[in-house]
Amino acid sequence: MSKLTIRQLHLSGKRVMIRVDFNVPLDEHGQIREDTRIRAALPTIRLALEQEARVILVSHLGRPKGQPDARYTLKPIQERLAQLLGQPVALAPECVGETAKAMVRAMRPGAVLLLENVRFHPGEEQNDPKFALQLAALADVVVIDAFGTAHRAHASNVGIGRFIQPMVAGLLLADELACFERSVRHPERPFAAILGGSKVSTKIGVIESLTAKVDKLLIGGGMAFTFLAAMGKRVGASRVEPEMFATARRTMETASQRGVELLLPMDVVAAPHPESTLTSQKLFMDEIPDNWMGLDIGPVTVEHFIHALNGMKTILWNGPMGVFEKEPFAAGTMQIALAVAKSGALSVVGGGDTDAAVRQAGVVERISHISTGGGAFLELLEKGDLPGIQVLTEA
Ligand code: 3PG
Repeated sequence: MSKLTIRQLHLSGKRVMIRVDFNVPLDEHGQIREDTRIRAALPTIRLALEQEARVILVSHLGRPKGQPDARYTLKPIQERLAQLLGQPVALAPECVGETAKAMVRAMRPGAVLLLENVRFHPGEEQNDPKFALQLAALADVVVIDAFGTAHRAHASNVGIGRFIQPMVAGLLLADELACFERSVRHPERPFAAILGGSKVSTKIGVIESLTAKVDKLLIGGGMAFTFLAAMGKRVGASRVEPEMFATARRTMETASQRGVELLLPMDVVAAPHPESTLTSQKLFMDEIPDNWMGLDIGPVTVEHFIHALNGMKTILWNGPMGVFEKEPFAAGTMQIALAVAKSGALSVVGGGDTDAAVRQAGVVERISHISTGGGAFLELLEKGDLPGIQVLTEA
């Protein structure tokens, strides 16, 4: 990697600010539903603590619109982090200001201070230099480990770089970038991508970028119906985006010109509605009644996709094959998860619901890399770089 990483620094006694992404899902009582992102940041935090650094953690949680909002306090994260680290974690009531400064001054080597939600200040999302400078004043070194936020150019992950150097990658970020290099930039071939999710419109950039890289592109999930309908296939009441038909056709042509094998579903599990879980049926595409919709890929497609994944050396997967949260429409996504896990390929999963699908299938341990990024993962696939990465100090 061309960027400096935390491994190349001496941190002993320094005030090390680590920008993490603790934007974890909370339940209706404000409890943490899933703590993968907190656990994923532990190696970097521990590395700094082993060197007796003073560790200052910065994160956002949710979208509190630039002002304090009790629903998005980092308090539950402070508690979980203290448990996971096995040591006290202090929480500064504000991420900048006199109290935060005093709390930083009082820190001993090996202590951890979590600053309250950085998005409680409008300056964060506005990337306001004054606010970035206030954050920078609290630290000697900045470590960026918030891969999930790297597609945002905010004060705490980009703007701060104007006022403090070096700004280096943490272990999580370095690992995400190394994985991107191995899987997307220099993949071992053959290379297949599996794309799903509901809309073509939100992923068209990713689809176009992948057709320039992969040997096979497997498209499932709701977005497949736009491709099928654009080819003139009957898809019943399945959700399609007619405004994307021309783009879908162009993508298919480009794929074919580039010699990319593009696979679409041949059959589906359909029902009148996602809620009608009792009436679902396995149907071929042209059998879908006009008022029914496809909600999962069917068994023939599953076999076809699994066969296509055979012998792949690299597999990238983003987006479920159907409404896998509902049992009657989960089989396609679960079987693809199993196939990816068993493939023996370098397997990379990322974005949105795909990590949840892999968890539901119980194959987390058998996937080479599960990205902590949602939007950041997709934007990196599309653009090959992110603002939160560009800004890091060159090695
Ligand atoms: C994410 O969850 O994708 C990141 O934490 C970024 O959050 P945002 O979409 O609210 O900027």
